[in-house]
Amino acid sequence: MRTLTRIAELREALAEERKNGRLTALVPTMGFLHEGHLTLIDEARGRCPVVVLSIFVNPLQFGPNEDLARYPRDPEGDAQKAAGRGVDILFAPQANELYRGERSVIVTPLALGEEWEGSVRPGHFAGVLTVVAKLFNIVMPNVAVFGQKDAQQVALVRAMVRDLDFPVEIVVVPTKREADGLAMSSRNAFLDDKSRTRALILSRALGAIELQFRNGEQRVDALEKAGWDVLLGEPEVEVDYLAVLDPDTFRRAQLARNGSVIVVAARVGGTRLIDNQILKTP
Ligand code: PAJ
Repeated sequence: MRTLTRIAELREALAEERKNGRLTALVPTMGFLHEGHLTLIDEARGRCPVVVLSIFVNPLQFGPNEDLARYPRDPEGDAQKAAGRGVDILFAPQANELYRGERSVIVTPLALGEEWEGSVRPGHFAGVLTVVAKLFNIVMPNVAVFGQKDAQQVALVRAMVRDLDFPVEIVVVPTKREADGLAMSSRNAFLDDKSRTRALILSRALGAIELQFRNGEQRVDALEKAGWDVLLGEPEVEVDYLAVLDPDTFRRAQLARNGSVIVVAARVGGTRLIDNQILKTP
């Protein structure tokens, strides 16, 4: 595995691969790699002969009161894990390599990015889409792999690719969970034992809604109530939102259908967690 920090050297390395007709898959991350990230790498590895992993804690997607400064980092551990899973090129630039001088242009989503994560974290998705667009232009991947864990991010990246005609195939990998159901996340590192236990309420609420849907309940109000009944059992968990959404628009509808997505976000002992589940008709 080669570790590169400069855009120019990465472009040069990839131009060589392209000349030899080798397709490239990109896995964008912010590092502190866990098994969820590593399944994205496996997916990339299975699809293209050249796998590029980017690790960049993107300041543009953090709000002024968010956890940019304390976001967990482990460059050496990450490099070891990445090499172990067969990454060819690790791209780990400094902030001043990607953001040079004054900023005049960013990529901002329309309605699809306004609610849910978009309303709790103003500017977050503009930061995400801007850095993903930059990475696409720098790496020019044939395939880019994302996790379903960040459902609205996936919808927005797909929308950006479609609306701005990026020549890249987006592949989405299901959420990797701990044995007890907790969705893997770099931020889980912040949870103490008590909060770790409390955090299970998120996946349990999703499970309760899924069960109701499987039993034939389609009314969004009733489904959401089933989720809230679970969440309210853990008063220490501060819920930002719980909603059953249309997968294309991320708006609430009256009735859930095959493919509808349940999204939940909450703060547990000072750590913000998100999770989601796609509903499937049995
Ligand atoms: P990060 O939170 O590091 O996540 C990197 C990728 O890993 C994302 O596509 C995310 O959805 C995926 N991922 C995280 N947890 C997962 C899990 N438990 N199972 C499967 N996939 C999981 O998402 C970002 O970084 C950033 O916003 C980024 C896209 C890199 C732009 O800065």
